[in-house]
Amino acid sequence: MCYLNLSSEVKLNSNNKQLTLFQQELPHDVKNWGTFKDSLKAPVHRWFTYPAGFSFKAVEHSFARFFITEGMTVYDPFMGSGTTNLTAKSKGISSIGVEAHSFVYEITKAKMEWDIDKKKIQKFISYLNSNFHNKLNSLSDNKNFSLSHYFPELVVKCYSEETLKKLLTIRELYNGYVFENKEKNFFFVVITALLRNISSAATGWPYIAPKKVKITSSDKDALQEFNTLALSMLQDLEDIKFFSDVDYKKSNHKLILGSSVDVSIDNESIDHVFTSPPYLNNFDYSDRTRLELYFWGIAKNWKDISDKIRTKLITSATTQIQRSNPKYKIDNEFKSKCPEVTKFIQDSANKLSELRKVKGGKKSYDLMLIGYFNDMYKIITEVYRVLKKDTKALFVLGDSAPYGVYIPTDKLIGEIGCAIGFDSYSLEILRKRGDKWKGNPQRHHVSLRESIVILEKNA
Ligand SMILES: C[S@@+](CC[C@H](N)C(=O)[O-])C[C@H]1O[C@@H](n2cnc3c(N)ncnc32)[C@H](O)[C@@H]1O
Repeated sequence: MCYLNLSSEVKLNSNNKQLTLFQQELPHDVKNWGTFKDSLKAPVHRWFTYPAGFSFKAVEHSFARFFITEGMTVYDPFMGSGTTNLTAKSKGISSIGVEAHSFVYEITKAKMEWDIDKKKIQKFISYLNSNFHNKLNSLSDNKNFSLSHYFPELVVKCYSEETLKKLLTIRELYNGYVFENKEKNFFFVVITALLRNISSAATGWPYIAPKKVKITSSDKDALQEFNTLALSMLQDLEDIKFFSDVDYKKSNHKLILGSSVDVSIDNESIDHVFTSPPYLNNFDYSDRTRLELYFWGIAKNWKDISDKIRTKLITSATTQIQRSNPKYKIDNEFKSKCPEVTKFIQDSANKLSELRKVKGGKKSYDLMLIGYFNDMYKIITEVYRVLKKDTKALFVLGDSAPYGVYIPTDKLIGEIGCAIGFDSYSLEILRKRGDKWKGNPQRHHVSLRESIVILEKNA
């Protein structure tokens, strides 16, 4: 039987399907599985610090546990920085990944390219070092030179003038060089990683407004850091290949830029899904990459970021909501397939709609909630379609409590899965969350957790 108690107030009973809830014999370090901590030390995984990423160890564990081996194909509908795909490649397992954030997609594409030409990499490093000072001087010699001419104010505020001039010099030399694709992508990641490595600005950015960030002259030297990073990343490629237990070249990897709401993947062609959707916690993925987007000139302002990225992602932040947009109504198909879940969502949205009138910030959590589950319904439907029979889809995610209204996202995803056609689901708790806010009177005191939802499609 697939039933659950959604909260002390609301009880759902659905279908004749199975729910198991357990904290089973997972390894002792599972509390880090929903975080990027382990991956920060692992070759290639660490090239881009994605706060939303999960641990490669969780993926390895899942492959071992469910016997996912060479010749099989795994799918991550929220590829992000590519943890699932990279882990698959290192095990000779084929993979498909979909990512809607174009900048993050480019980073992951580069991370998945392991056969780059070492000599070509060294050639660009030498070219950059030989031309660096001339280029830097020529920029500074221009009487009308101003960093604001090249970068939005936010970037200017994140570095000392000297450091930003050096970063600009590197960018200009990179843009003017004739590369082959793979090597160009590699250096795109090197320079991107450099941006955060080098700044002496406070670490919590973007949550700390740049005007509060203290810029000192103690920024690390841009050219030196560039050289160190490029060489260590080159070494990472050697290491990941060396430690790979199999011939990774036999596997195929298809990375798709687009939305997993609607994907071009064949029916019943996937052996396993391991993924982590955005949590319903008001994290704006496009804002997280503002520094990088502005530095590269991919976006110049908030509107640009919205047009190019924010609007392409599933709804998980109030910054994505325009209250006048009529799309924030529960979809009819979703309602008819999942009447109890959608009733719970609508009731919670109604509470949030009342609360926003009296709460600070007047945040549109009510519409965010509806938008989120409308999108997740479609994505889980697609996941079900592409999975072979007798397989599992694992979703790493956290629950949330906007304005103190508890939303058991893990159970709801499990219930939606069962309504769509999965035969059963189970939840495995990874860790309790939200303790760091204890004592903050502005925050709710609902106990939260991070879990893995396992959806099973039987033979
Ligand atoms: C929690 S992160 C995944 C992180 C990933 N597991 C990793 O290790 O880096 C969720 C990702 O989903 C992406 N995303 C949001 N909406 C999407 C959509 N409709 N289709 C595909 N990806 C989407 C976000 O840009 C973000 O990179």
